[in-house]
Amino acid sequence: MKIINARLRASLGYFTITCSNGLFESITEQSGLIESSAEVIDAKGNLMCAPFVEPHIHLDAVLTAGEPKWNASGTLFEGIEIWAKRKVLLSHEDVQKRVLKTVELLVENGVQHVRTHIDITDPDLVALKAINALRTKLAPYIDLQIVAFPQEGIMSFPKGTELMEQSLQHGVDVIGGIPHFEYTREYGVQSVEWIMDLAEKHNKLVDIHCDEIDDEASRFLEVLATAALEKNMGERVTASHTTAMHSYNNAYCYKLFRLLKKSKINFVSCPTESIHLQGRFDTYPKRRGITRVKEIRDAGMNVCFAQDSIQDPWYPVGNGKLLRVLDSGLHSCHMLGHEDLMTALDLITINGAKTLNIADRYGIEVGKPANFIIVEGGDDVEVIQKQGEVLYSVREGKILISRQPYVLNEKVNLV
Ligand code: FE2
Repeated sequence: MKIINARLRASLGYFTITCSNGLFESITEQSGLIESSAEVIDAKGNLMCAPFVEPHIHLDAVLTAGEPKWNASGTLFEGIEIWAKRKVLLSHEDVQKRVLKTVELLVENGVQHVRTHIDITDPDLVALKAINALRTKLAPYIDLQIVAFPQEGIMSFPKGTELMEQSLQHGVDVIGGIPHFEYTREYGVQSVEWIMDLAEKHNKLVDIHCDEIDDEASRFLEVLATAALEKNMGERVTASHTTAMHSYNNAYCYKLFRLLKKSKINFVSCPTESIHLQGRFDTYPKRRGITRVKEIRDAGMNVCFAQDSIQDPWYPVGNGKLLRVLDSGLHSCHMLGHEDLMTALDLITINGAKTLNIADRYGIEVGKPANFIIVEGGDDVEVIQKQGEVLYSVREGKILISRQPYVLNEKVNLV
């Protein structure tokens, strides 16, 4: 496979890239645009970059919005109540059908790496078993990491610790948690410490829904970061959401950042989901309820964006387009400065790959797997301005999707 006239991130000029045996073989700068032919993929000056990474989604709940009822309050807590009612209706077929439909949406929007949380507060582990059974079928399209996610708590749910341990027998890569939802602060602290011990014992990654609430007193992040630091596991640990950080006082946050930096943990923010679910108990002014993405990035820590939901009890819209999430997050986090825009794709590419611990096999470099997308626009800024389409998604040298950019009718000539 040969790609010509490609722009690459953080580079000027045009490039020719060749792939063989599923790997990148060569990357050569061109002296200018070159003539196309039938045997090549002509990027036509559009950006070729590593595939988008979806580091936080709940595939078990996708496409269930309105079942059995719609979330009227728009709160996280009503979402959890509705999901508990939908969860008892899950079947192997129901889960697999919705997951496959969603993976199609992700693939057609350039995503090739996915971390899914799956609710394991279900005595039969229906969703976990159904999604784990799809791994082989999905492998040609996406890498899948599975998080055992205790939606209704570990310490506060009957047999919560046993269910978590059982789930490890069913293909779990990552251990999750939800300390801010546990009955008490003490249960929350206990749950984080128990998760970290379990992950260390079984050599698993960790990704905790941490402080996903507007309560400025929700401070499980410091517990997680301390355990990560003391166990020297930081790069394998992720704090998802951390929306309470939006409401922390600056003096506490300043002190907290010292620990966070030392711990080396990763952060996932879900800006569309958080701006929808948080601030629901405010009158005016209403908080945005999104963690301090810009400050985390500026402090040199790893932070990425994710969708969280696609049409489920928590969030009624969503369609697999991470560019939409990125655009929304950049707006909500005051990150439309030119410097921010120039590297903005990091938030849905390499930063997500670091969170997933796959950076060693991710990126357009000779010898790495030939996984890439071509997206409309010549660089990060143009891609975000245009909000265009993914024109190609290629995995190990095989084309997963291709589409043509729109062409103006020749009678439309305004410039
Ligand atoms: Fe989530």
